[in-house]
Amino acid sequence: MDWEEYESTALKSFAEASTSDELANAHTEWLGRRSGLKVALRDVRDRETGMALNAVREQLETAFAAREEELEQARLVLLDEALDVTLPGTQLPRGRLHPLTQIRREVEDIFLGLGYEIVDSREVETVWHNFDALNQPLTHPSRSHRDTFYIDAETLLRTHTSTGQIRVMEERQPPIYIATLGRVYRRDTPSPRSTPNFHQVEALAVDRGITLDDLKGTLLHFFHAMFGDDRDVRMRTGFFPFTEPSVEFDVTCFLCGGKGCPFCKYTGWFEMGGAGVVDPAVFENVGIDPDEWSGFAWGLGLDRIAAQRHGIPDIRMFWENDLRVLRQF
Ligand code: PHE
Repeated sequence: MDWEEYESTALKSFAEASTSDELANAHTEWLGRRSGLKVALRDVRDRETGMALNAVREQLETAFAAREEELEQARLVLLDEALDVTLPGTQLPRGRLHPLTQIRREVEDIFLGLGYEIVDSREVETVWHNFDALNQPLTHPSRSHRDTFYIDAETLLRTHTSTGQIRVMEERQPPIYIATLGRVYRRDTPSPRSTPNFHQVEALAVDRGITLDDLKGTLLHFFHAMFGDDRDVRMRTGFFPFTEPSVEFDVTCFLCGGKGCPFCKYTGWFEMGGAGVVDPAVFENVGIDPDEWSGFAWGLGLDRIAAQRHGIPDIRMFWENDLRVLRQF
């Protein structure tokens, strides 16, 4: 027997074995009990042959063990890469919309139901769209740097969503029925009832023969849809430079239904927002003929509606992103 050739052929077949079965067969063939090597080892009579054959055996056993280890490693790597479809999946926690987004969508639905168009406008605005076009006198305190965030002399963060109404009226002629919703900014100190940025919704209707009656009817419809049919709405006289006459409107308290309780400070009412009949000066600023068209506008804070809806005593909670609060809605 040519033991050198035996060794090199055996080494080759170990190296070529690509599965543990193939390797086991190679082992049987070259190192097994009935392999040429083992049979020869049993018959060894002299020391020299014994040493030579044992050297071959050791070589082969080492090579076999190394190849066995290699195949095992490769198997583990494959296992790691394989996808076990029987394993249970990882649970992804289901998110939800922020309560303010939920309210915003609800409000949009109410307006869409009335045939209004939802208008998305910009948050960075010109002084013209935020104040001048709305007939705001130069001396009005809300123009001050103490009340409004300015970017430069002509640019600011909008203080109300009326700006979107000006932009739409500048672009097209009546009839116009739109609602603008979004973030607005005022330099207010955070408190349970106000935050420096909050959300508004404003509605504008411009058509022939629109009166304060239409405004009241729309407000009633809106608050019934929002809070339920047992709510009542009242209007008090107010003042806004862009409406004449102007009113402020309240809704009966959700907790006591108008009888008076600590939540509404025993008045039975909650102040919700401002409204009025569009001032002819505003129409003139945007190129709409006030002799032909009339309209109403009203606006209110979405954050306050959400607080009313959920009985939340402090609107800052909407901005703190405490999941223990937000998860409840
Ligand atoms: N823009 C006013 C505000 O931010 C609200 C308002 C809208 C008042 C429309 C009258 C008419 O307070």
